[in-house]
Amino acid sequence: MANTILVGAQWGDEGKGKIIDVLTEQADIVVRTQGGNNAGHTVFIGPKKYVLHLIPSGILRKKKICVIGNGVVVDPVGLVDEIKGVLKLGVAVSPKNLLLSETAHVVMPYHRELDGAREMAKGKNKIGTTKRGIGPTYGDKAARVGLRIIDLIHPERFEAKLKERITENNAVLKALGAKPLSFEKVLREYRAAGDFLRPYVTNTVVYLHHAVREDRGILFEGAQGTFLDIDHGTYPFVTSSNTTAGGACTGSGVPPHRMDRVVGVMKAYTTRVGEGPLPTENAEIADMLHAMGREFGATTGRARRCGWFDAVATRHASMVNGIDQLAVTNLDGLDSLDVIRVCIGYKIGRTRYDYIPNEIETLAQCEPVYAEFPGWRTPTDKVREWRKLPLNARSYLKAIAELTDAELAIASIGPARDQTIFL
Ligand code: IMP
Repeated sequence: MANTILVGAQWGDEGKGKIIDVLTEQADIVVRTQGGNNAGHTVFIGPKKYVLHLIPSGILRKKKICVIGNGVVVDPVGLVDEIKGVLKLGVAVSPKNLLLSETAHVVMPYHRELDGAREMAKGKNKIGTTKRGIGPTYGDKAARVGLRIIDLIHPERFEAKLKERITENNAVLKALGAKPLSFEKVLREYRAAGDFLRPYVTNTVVYLHHAVREDRGILFEGAQGTFLDIDHGTYPFVTSSNTTAGGACTGSGVPPHRMDRVVGVMKAYTTRVGEGPLPTENAEIADMLHAMGREFGATTGRARRCGWFDAVATRHASMVNGIDQLAVTNLDGLDSLDVIRVCIGYKIGRTRYDYIPNEIETLAQCEPVYAEFPGWRTPTDKVREWRKLPLNARSYLKAIAELTDAELAIASIGPARDQTIFL
């Protein structure tokens, strides 16, 4: 398989977990390169449902090597729980098929506490984070005061660094009105997690370079989506990592010219969790999807905000990621509609925008300009071939791919592996 970067083309939750699982079949190695356990990738295999937060979804297929790359922020206690949980479900996880980067940064309890306390202090201006400590961990990484996995697995070094960091962070927590943390308790918990994870830890950059040299196929699985990117998203309502294609290089150490293609995943409509502008948000679509039991977050269980497909956004995503091929998911969510709207531009008064304005206040004022497409009013979840999809569904898919400026490669009509149509 060509080395493939997979990214979300919207605000996260595009159904990447399932597409990653399908593409993993052709890959030898699957790599996570950014984010942390704020992500939740849901995969259904037969009657079993797996929600993975840090472990790449490739773990669910035999003979695949999964790598948690240097760009990921790792909550070690969470990772240990996740490994144990997946083992309980009968999936083989061991240092033979899961590798953890030495230089990934560690999410500490004070990062989680700070995440919560800062959100609380922001009041109505909150970002709506997952409270997993992601922002403060990347903040410490950039400020060069972070602890890395390589520290975690060296007990003495870890103890000394923890003592220094916890003292400083307890003072900040106190100032924010939050409870300070017990050094002994954190040390005990993190030591145990470090001991458990030690055999998984390696120099993943060197490992991946050997893999590239041996022509093994690598899939870089993106977490979150383009508009949650710290540089290219709807700042400040974003996560703290580069969720766009470039993040796959920096977060793994594999250089850009070794990447062969970028696959963008997008839903046939739009969703977002957390705060921030969402121009095509629509209460009727949200009610319809929630009544179908869809669109509840995999990590926090929050009901997602929903709206019509936004082609202004996905075209931008195509541009910043260099998307070659598209996978459109959740087509079946639109099966019952008479008319389907697609946002093809924004307007404020008489001013038209065919791109996403950078100023968040401007974006918040943007009204969508819609094109309308006839619905197909037929269940599509049992369709397995492109030519058997209703004509209106095919036309809709082709139109949104064309508006996004990329080639349609996959249509997904349900969570199961076989509910996937390849073009
Ligand atoms: P954080 O990543 O927890 O700091 O949250 C920042 C923003 O990103 C919030 O709006 C979250 O809801 C959103 N976010 C983080 N991870 C995901 C994800 O995996 N899917 C969708 N939204 C996410």
